[in-house]
Amino acid sequence: MILALETSCDETAAALVTSDGEIRANVVASQADLHARYGGVVPEIASRRHLELVLPVIREALEQAGSTLDDVERVAVTSGPGLIGALLVGLSAAKSLAWARRLPLVPVDHLHGHVASLYLRPDPVEPPFLCLLASGGHTLLLDVQDHSGYRRVGTTLDDAAGEAFDKGARLLGLGYPGGAELDRLAREGDPDAHPFPVARVPGSDFSFSGLKTALLYAVRDLPADELERRRADLAASYQRAIVRALVERTLAAAEHLGTERIAVVGGVAANSELRAALPHASLAPLPLCTDNAAMIGSAARFLEAIPYPGYLELDAYASAG
Ligand code: KG4
Ligand code: ZN
Repeated sequence: MILALETSCDETAAALVTSDGEIRANVVASQADLHARYGGVVPEIASRRHLELVLPVIREALEQAGSTLDDVERVAVTSGPGLIGALLVGLSAAKSLAWARRLPLVPVDHLHGHVASLYLRPDPVEPPFLCLLASGGHTLLLDVQDHSGYRRVGTTLDDAAGEAFDKGARLLGLGYPGGAELDRLAREGDPDAHPFPVARVPGSDFSFSGLKTALLYAVRDLPADELERRRADLAASYQRAIVRALVERTLAAAEHLGTERIAVVGGVAANSELRAALPHASLAPLPLCTDNAAMIGSAARFLEAIPYPGYLELDAYASAG
């Protein structure tokens, strides 16, 4: 059994995953409420909260699985990319646990983790496929040929798709992070009410900053009561533009790569319109779209472990190489 930890942003998460991809426990403590009043994640607050939560979350995962540390054969942990202070809490906890019990440790790339959310039971997806990874921090198109990694074929030139959702939600007066709330509000609105631009940058890349500015201009001059009346229409039209950009680029990249197999992972993969717009794609299961540790344990199954005690020098990294 693998004990996996994930603390790259504002979720403190621990999971127990078997080597054949069964989830025995998956505990996620979200700090979103703590950061909501600031309208975004405050790195120092996140690190401190991870420190308070990491051991209780591990204990709860073990309890949920009906296991003890004696059952753990490997420790897996996200080593980057993410908030450096937040990552270091998880990495230090993982190193200490592994070292104290003389276990091997597997450092996992957070993005590989999102892809590996597809490899878990009961319905594992097998490579090769083209993967759209859309989250709060990243929007990537990945050529996935095997379980152990990926090749990047496209990225965002500015904001991530989740960031576009969150910033749009904020302009519409919704809470943080607003993606899920905007998704709900959009269901009551007309997606054709406002023609928002879909950026078409060259190649397989994305751009969302122009869209965000377009929404800003649309809401800026509206009187409060008028904004209230049009909020659902604005949400629906704004979401339509994000989804259209994601789907268009993904389908074009799939054609370019000569594959019909498409998968979607990351927080934005929870979006109901995106899920409906790609009916033939493999979609990450809803509870595994946003950050969690089960996906980190899943990725660890396909990676080399560092034997005891070689990992004590291991460092976290903030940005993807
Ligand atoms: O993967 P994730 O938990 O964190 C990162 O690795 O960044 O993704 C979080 C992002 C947030 O921006 C959140 O607003 C967005 O995913 N999100 C959604 C939905 N649920 C979460 N965006 C659109 N529709 C949703 N239903
Ligand atoms: Zn993530």
